[in-house]
Amino acid sequence: MLFLQIFASHSWYFPIFTHVKKKSMRLVTLDEFIAENQYRHPEATGELSGLLRDIGLAAKIVNRDLSKAGLVDAILGDAEKTNVQGEEVKKLDEFANEILIKCLQNSGECCGIASEEEDTFVAFENRKNAKYVVLFDPLDGSSNIDVIAPVGTIFSVFRRKSPVGTLCTLEDFLQAGDQQAAAGYVIYGSSTMLVYSTGEGVNGFTLDPTIGEFCLSHADIQTPKNAKTYSMNQGNCRDFPENIQQFVDFCQDNVTKKPYSLRYIGSMVADFHRNLLKGGVFLYPPTKSAPNGKLRLMYECNPMAYLQEQAGGSASNGGQRILSIQPTELHQRTPVYIGSEELVNKVIHTK
Ligand code: AHG
Ligand code: MN
Ligand code: MN
Repeated sequence: MLFLQIFASHSWYFPIFTHVKKKSMRLVTLDEFIAENQYRHPEATGELSGLLRDIGLAAKIVNRDLSKAGLVDAILGDAEKTNVQGEEVKKLDEFANEILIKCLQNSGECCGIASEEEDTFVAFENRKNAKYVVLFDPLDGSSNIDVIAPVGTIFSVFRRKSPVGTLCTLEDFLQAGDQQAAAGYVIYGSSTMLVYSTGEGVNGFTLDPTIGEFCLSHADIQTPKNAKTYSMNQGNCRDFPENIQQFVDFCQDNVTKKPYSLRYIGSMVADFHRNLLKGGVFLYPPTKSAPNGKLRLMYECNPMAYLQEQAGGSASNGGQRILSIQPTELHQRTPVYIGSEELVNKVIHTK
């Protein structure tokens, strides 16, 4: 009798996907979730699954070392050089970059990578038979590390266009965002979470440090259609286009005395993550000195736009859907307005 009661109360006797949405007590690790997804697609070869698992492994290693920042001199501070985009490189930018490259090259599923921290793409000589390329921002918001604010890793996966068996080419990387096979990010905050999509919704996995596993904690994330939060570096307001200044006026709404809340951390991953879960819009508009904005299409905007659309939100550069932009350069930048659908529409339709 007791056995029957236990049996009835433990949904873990049933296949994983029958209960993930019910927030059961069943622990579903990232690896189990990926494996179950693969099982539901008999045509899948398992290569994308392997790739995602390796990104999860890289994230655990980066997380481990980030948590020591401040204690170990070797990982905190500037690397005393600038990257190809002229930005100061932190030691942890380099470290995270190396970890991701090593994990992806070891995986066997990735024929090459492009990274915010590399001058150009890297083709893996020993992985000519792999099908996927991965683009990433190894450490997003890295200027926040020294003050222990949240940072992240962002990744984007494309199926290669060049023939399997050859070295990957630039053409494999310069694909529009709507061609992504998967995208995601890891946020290293008060806890560490990996959020990803393969085009069938968005799921979030929180790292349980006691067992060293990412466990499903946020199944099928949906962004509220509307909200009253905006995220931007409002200090640049005078340099923004007229319509963005108008949008800021709208948010401050002195007429009805119901201003919107401004929330800005300065780590895209952290600002995006909050808005993804709670609703809101993240803006990085063009300025007079940076007419294409600051954020990178391939490493930041495309993967986040893919996730945001999968979660029911939207992402635009002001005139075009982010995911439909045909890239011409690996490191190209774009203005971005991303988040709850109605708020993004409000931004881009404000005159
Ligand atoms: P990264 O650390 O990868 O260079 O990215 C920093 C980005 C992004 O995370 C953030 O939203 C933005 O820079 C902040 O820029 P401002 O300091 O101009 O607001
Ligand atoms: Mn970044
Ligand atoms: Mn970065």
